[in-house]
Amino acid sequence: MLDHRVVAFATLLAWLCGAGAATASEPVPPTAVPPSPDAPAAAAPPDAEPARTAATPLLPPARAYGGLSEARIEYGRYLTLAGDCAACHTRDGGKLFEGGLGINTPFGTIYTPNITPATGYGIGDFSDKDFLRALQHGIRPDGKPYYPALPYPSYTKVRDDDLLAIKDYLFSLTPSRYVPPATQLRWPFDMRDLLFGWQDLYLKAGRFEPDPNKSDAWNRGAYLVQGLGHCGTCHTPRNLAGATKSEDALSGAYVDGWYAPSLTEALADGLGDWSQEQILTYLRTGEAPPAASGDGPETAAVGPMAEVVHQSLSRLATSDLEAIAAYLKDQPPQAAPDYAPQVPPQLTEQSYSQGRKLYATYCAACHQNYGQGLAPYFPALAGNETVTLAEPDDVIKTLLLGAPANPDEAYSPHVVMPSFGSVFNDQQIATLASYIRANWGNDASPVSAEAVAALRGKR
Ligand code: HEC
Ligand code: HEC
Ligand code: HEC
Repeated sequence: MLDHRVVAFATLLAWLCGAGAATASEPVPPTAVPPSPDAPAAAAPPDAEPARTAATPLLPPARAYGGLSEARIEYGRYLTLAGDCAACHTRDGGKLFEGGLGINTPFGTIYTPNITPATGYGIGDFSDKDFLRALQHGIRPDGKPYYPALPYPSYTKVRDDDLLAIKDYLFSLTPSRYVPPATQLRWPFDMRDLLFGWQDLYLKAGRFEPDPNKSDAWNRGAYLVQGLGHCGTCHTPRNLAGATKSEDALSGAYVDGWYAPSLTEALADGLGDWSQEQILTYLRTGEAPPAASGDGPETAAVGPMAEVVHQSLSRLATSDLEAIAAYLKDQPPQAAPDYAPQVPPQLTEQSYSQGRKLYATYCAACHQNYGQGLAPYFPALAGNETVTLAEPDDVIKTLLLGAPANPDEAYSPHVVMPSFGSVFNDQQIATLASYIRANWGNDASPVSAEAVAALRGKR
């Protein structure tokens, strides 16, 4: 049986894994050359074609240092782009890779570390072994585990030499002595040791193994998608413990309130009706080609994917994007899990979809995707009589003020319900309350913004 602490801890991770990338910031564009990886066998040749969103180079150009050739550093630079490392390790207005990007969770904020080569501040004293252990096994040099907000469950697939090339590139850059704020999570989520339990159960450490029955391009695509691209971090649904489910790989999932659609051949929800060429265009530009009849693109990345395209995919060689597209086109259809049941009769389509987004972003980490809760930490909202009382006052107050006021009455002694009164306006609270009152078999009347305003006044 699962240790409850591990499960509760893992709900935090589910939150983290989604929240991380979406709040990432744009690094300062340096002057640089287009990627021209000096790649081994299956890797990409230099790509002269300018990508549309890649007008501004993102990372400083490679320069030879300490006996390492410029070609080696350039190879590492290219893989650093493929791994999207800068997105998380650069805060707004900060220097590249010096960290300090805050990932907000209801349990506190996690700050990304400084990964410039500054000794004592960044990773200057990481040996090759330390670096590999961090990215492939999620273990710090001092032996403690990392939060999987660092996507090591994907990076574990990456070959040693490729990761060390990234290290070589990072070490060729200017060190920064910036010290990110300390990460402080509320107990019990601050106990890193709990992560050992999670890693034992869910981390499948191991390098990518090519499939000899598939083409080189397919294997290259698989390697990028499963490894540095960490596509499954967002596109693969998670189990209750916040680990991605390998049997449902890439079948679509919620991330930070956005839906990352299925990347399998499923027709309705997935890429079944996309040509390989369309996928390639989307990866390079964030837009699928114009619809046959209209002018605008049929699909455009506007959410978390826009950043993935801008900071990472649009910087990659065409041959690598082709490889990714080829691999995705070869994923057997996986119908997305049925996240979207009928709109309940009490709600309009609009209030339903707004409620669903708010719920996924702010509530699902604790109360779970289907409102089923997670004993003994988070009560179920489905089938919960407090939620469906004819008078919605209790639900509204819980949302405005959090719970419990009195620890003796707490559902769980360890975790409290955060207050959302200062986070949301009256309409948003009403939308959320209406949403949870009408979903997952609940069948209570909607809540108006006026009802929320009236209770806000009182307390
Ligand atoms: C989705 C966000 C995200 C991405 C993408 C990401 N990281 Fe991180 N990384 C983190 C977080 C968060 C931590 C700290 C985890 C912790 O405190 O347990 C971290 C920690 C690290 C550490 C340990 C630093 C130390 O001082 O202990 C290294 C090294 C690192 N990342 C390198 C990389 C590299 C290289 C890449 C790209 C291949 C990368 N990261 C991509 C979020 C990210
Ligand atoms: C940080 C989370 C995240 C990561 C990492 C990510 N995606 Fe996405 N992806 C999304 C979201 C969310 C969408 C929905 C559109 C949007 O964000 O605007 C999306 C949309 C897409 C689409 C369009 C699908 C459709 O039906 O419209 C494709 C194709 C895609 N992603 C491929 C990839 C590939 C390939 C990778 C890895 C190299 C990847 N994504 C990594 C979050 C992510
Ligand atoms: C950090 C985890 C966490 C988050 C995030 C969270 N809740 Fe809660 N919620 C709790 C806990 C724990 C309780 C039980 C509090 C107690 O001890 O009475 C609770 C109680 C509730 C209750 C009262 C249930 C009852 O039986 O009295 C409602 C309604 C509720 N939450 C709705 C929400 C909604 C809607 C959101 C998103 C806006 C949300 N919660 C976000 C942890 C959370």
